[in-house]
Amino acid sequence: MRRKIVAGNWKMNKNLSETTVLLEDLKKQEFKDEAVEVIVTPPFTNLSLAVTTLKDSKINVAAQNMHQNANGAFTGEISADMLKNTGVETVILGHSERRAYFGENDALLAEKVDTALKNNMEIIFCFGEELEDRKGGKHFEVVESQLKNGIFHVNDENWKHIVLAYEPVWAIGTGETASPEQAQEMHAFIRKTIKETFGENTAASVSILYGGSVKPANASEIFAKPDVDGGLIGGAALDAGNFSAIANSF
Ligand code: 13P
Repeated sequence: MRRKIVAGNWKMNKNLSETTVLLEDLKKQEFKDEAVEVIVTPPFTNLSLAVTTLKDSKINVAAQNMHQNANGAFTGEISADMLKNTGVETVILGHSERRAYFGENDALLAEKVDTALKNNMEIIFCFGEELEDRKGGKHFEVVESQLKNGIFHVNDENWKHIVLAYEPVWAIGTGETASPEQAQEMHAFIRKTIKETFGENTAASVSILYGGSVKPANASEIFAKPDVDGGLIGGAALDAGNFSAIANSF
């Protein structure tokens, strides 16, 4: 059985005081399905607080990014060891905002993937096409290339530590979600692409999340699709009630 996961990507939102309030709110929520893994990703400054506050809850804490080097003169950056020593075992890599605004390309992401795996971390690896790609009928090609150049260098064993998140850029923060059919079509394509390189078992066991304007109102029809194993949630994850409603949408 594939893992069902709902992860909240807080992005650059919530200061320490606001994080305290949101975490307390999250702790009060009822997450009905034990089998659904719930993850939150506060900014770096609030990870330690999140780990401590959520220690006895079912909610796990992940980071939004990480540097590829172990340590050294990389002003402003955060290493795998720093995350792990804070109690964070999972990291989001390759978010489209990192790709678009911080120049993260496939080669750099491949390095970050290696660093995360070397440190026994779990990875939520993001990718997805832009609007022009889809309009030009290039969305499958773009996604295949992001996967092949960013993460397909790993070995069969590594896949146990990898979750994929398909996030079409045109659906992020726009209110325009991919239709459940569009999500399913792409997730099936991703699974087929994994199968061609890594075989049936790996393809069948990798969780593939959908991200892009997921809300309580549309989550259940997206999660009902056979190749969609959950969601990576942006805006709606900043409200505990909305986030738990999404996690309860399977
Ligand atoms: P929204 O849910 O705000 O569209 O953001 C999605 C996202 O980028 C999650 O990583």
